[in-house]
Amino acid sequence: MSGGPAAMAAPRASVDAAAFRATMRRLAAGVTVVTSRHGARLNGMTATAVCSVSADPPLVLVVVNRRNASHELITRGRAFALNFLGADQSELANLFAASGGKRFDTIPHRLGKTGCPLLEGCTALVECELETLHDVATHTVFIGRVIDNETSQSAPLTYHDARFWALRPIDGQRGVD
Ligand SMILES: Cc1cc2nc3c(=O)[nH]c(=O)nc-3n(C[C@H](O)[C@H](O)[C@H](O)COP(=O)(O)O)c2cc1C
Repeated sequence: MSGGPAAMAAPRASVDAAAFRATMRRLAAGVTVVTSRHGARLNGMTATAVCSVSADPPLVLVVVNRRNASHELITRGRAFALNFLGADQSELANLFAASGGKRFDTIPHRLGKTGCPLLEGCTALVECELETLHDVATHTVFIGRVIDNETSQSAPLTYHDARFWALRPIDGQRGVD
């Protein structure tokens, strides 16, 4: 008799891609520009698929579509930087969400320890060396080891329902130091 558990399993249920995107748009996220460098080529890409992985060792991840120019630069440059945008930086978010035209000669920045651009005026900066990567479907999960970071007190930019938003605190809450 043929067929183990896999053969007997019901076909995997799936959902409509457009409905899935609409669902994920309900999730509010911080907005990051992921910068990268290979040789003389600098690039930046707006991303919300960014999160912390562990604190010890300090690791973060970003999920990048393999079609994006950033994919090749991160893979070849073996580094990336996370530039957490502030509430007044939605223009940068739009600029780095478009392909081409990301002219670093007109965007205020400096080069960090990895050589990746660090944008001025961000709410935080995280510099990473590439630790490992995992190809998943159309995307790659890049995991970076944090080699430097800095923060400011400026308010963050968020993305929700295909729009940029500024946060406001709920009255009476205390922050966690
Ligand atoms: C709010 C927002 C979030 C995005 N998040 C991601 C993301 O997490 N990963 C990704 O690969 N692309 C993401 N994109 C799309 C890229 O920013 C876009 O494809 C960009 O042009 C890629 O630039 P590049 O080709 O120069 O790397 C996002 C776009 C927007 C507007």
